[in-house]
Amino acid sequence: MSTEKSELASVVAKATGLDSTELVTWIEYPPNPNLGDLAFPCFRLAKIQKKSPQQIAEQLAKEISGSNRFAGAEAAGGYVNVRLLRDKVATTTIHLARTATESLFSSQKMKGRVAAVDYSSPNIAKPFGVGHLRSTIIGQSIVRLLKANGCEVVGINHLGDWGTQFGKNIAAYLRWGDEEVVKQNPVRELFHLYVRFHDEAKDNPELEDEGRLWFKRLEEGDPTARRLWQWFIDESIAVFKKTYDLLDVSFDHYLGESFYNDKMEAVVDELRRDNLLVESEGAEVVDLSEWNMPPCIIKKSDGASIYATRDLAAAMYRNQTFGADTLVYVVGAEQTLHFQQIFKVLELMGKPWAKNCKHVSFGMMKYNGERLSTRRGKVVYLDDVLSRAVDEAAKIIESKNPSLSDKESVAKAVGVGAVIFNDLKTYRQHDVDFRYEDVLNFDGETGPYVQYTHARACSVLRKAEGMLGQDPVSFAEVTEIEWRVVSQLMQAAEYFDRAVAEYDPSLIARFALDLCQAFNRFYHDHPILTAEDPSVRQTRLALTDATRAVLNWCLTVLGLTALEAM
Ligand code: ARG
Repeated sequence: MSTEKSELASVVAKATGLDSTELVTWIEYPPNPNLGDLAFPCFRLAKIQKKSPQQIAEQLAKEISGSNRFAGAEAAGGYVNVRLLRDKVATTTIHLARTATESLFSSQKMKGRVAAVDYSSPNIAKPFGVGHLRSTIIGQSIVRLLKANGCEVVGINHLGDWGTQFGKNIAAYLRWGDEEVVKQNPVRELFHLYVRFHDEAKDNPELEDEGRLWFKRLEEGDPTARRLWQWFIDESIAVFKKTYDLLDVSFDHYLGESFYNDKMEAVVDELRRDNLLVESEGAEVVDLSEWNMPPCIIKKSDGASIYATRDLAAAMYRNQTFGADTLVYVVGAEQTLHFQQIFKVLELMGKPWAKNCKHVSFGMMKYNGERLSTRRGKVVYLDDVLSRAVDEAAKIIESKNPSLSDKESVAKAVGVGAVIFNDLKTYRQHDVDFRYEDVLNFDGETGPYVQYTHARACSVLRKAEGMLGQDPVSFAEVTEIEWRVVSQLMQAAEYFDRAVAEYDPSLIARFALDLCQAFNRFYHDHPILTAEDPSVRQTRLALTDATRAVLNWCLTVLGLTALEAM
């Protein structure tokens, strides 16, 4: 929470006898800055004190005006509109933003906590499509946000590396596969073989038996089956890692579903001891009808265990082995019921940390307005999307700034950044539409726009060549346009706290966009380097430097490169 809000809350607390930590959450930023810099709504107080909101507002306005910590206050429509001592706020906010950027954002509220974050988690021998992109990008950004808030984070890639599918993969490979062809393009080739298997099995049902047989062999540890399966995993991970490197994504552990093969029986035993298992049509399930959910299937009638049981084993492993008290799952909205069931079962098992399990779901990714589906064969490969974005970025840079040095790495940072930002700027529950023209538009609400604004600030500071020191710069008269920048910076901590609480990096992306807008207006309206008064020049350079530092922080936490020139 901003210091300004806390100060206002403490004045109101003194006047009303209410708790300032509660009051501070009521304070708003007026939609129109001409009204004031902060607004305190009196409607709730009116209920408590049985007076009219306006009456209370007038009384509070008097108290606040009397305090030398504010420039003034007025009652209007049940609100107290408060004017801040803008020079003082600008001086401290700008200094903090320049010299201790993290502290502008982070309350370190999660210090001492340990979170296991499950993200990306693609399936072996299947394409990592743009649909998987969201989990990867949102997940990595959440990891950075939690770390910035003092939390210890364990990043986990829960690869889909087990199931009957692998029997089919093996059978298909042995029938039609070629080692060299697979090595050249492992995921695509393995996926082609898998699709062919399905197509041919329609006319040739004994193929299905062959697939089942190979899966059985895999389960029993047959050396050929194990070797091929491990090879598919290694090749697939090598392909995924190329994309992760490009996106600057990493994990502390790759622990696929197969890792829990020998850890599920213990879960089943524990469920049985807790009297939670019931029989249903030959399967063993946990009945969840009391919570209006279908039963959570633990063991199928053929004795095979399933996705849910693995997730229960994985959750317990994460808690026991990593000491995680918070389990986060960045997985698409189509698995909402699955996670509700898992979390409920953990709660019924008496796990105290079950209440700290969070499914961070997200909307779909549409590609030029179309839904994508792996099954219908309409696959868009993520590496294609990224390399095309980089190519398009290179063309734009070539036309805008042909003399730029290191054009290639700039194009990479801009192209990849454009794809990442497009994903993160959208409220995560909403669907994301992907169009190259839009994501790369330098004037739109895009990654390149934020990167460009950052580079612009860097360029001004480069030209200022040492005109600005590290000492605090005192503001004497903040213009309305400068204030827009300061007031945005002043709100940093609140955006950050909400982003962490809601596991939603889009709040940081929106914050950065608003800051860019305020800064660009300032840049176009006010001379900076050519300001006549040297002290005005100093304050404007300090404002520029604060914007640079904060944009740098935002870009980094979102996973984009903060370029100094582009
Ligand atoms: N591999 C799964 C899929 O692509 C996602 C796994 C998510 N994580 C988990 N713990 N269930 O659908």
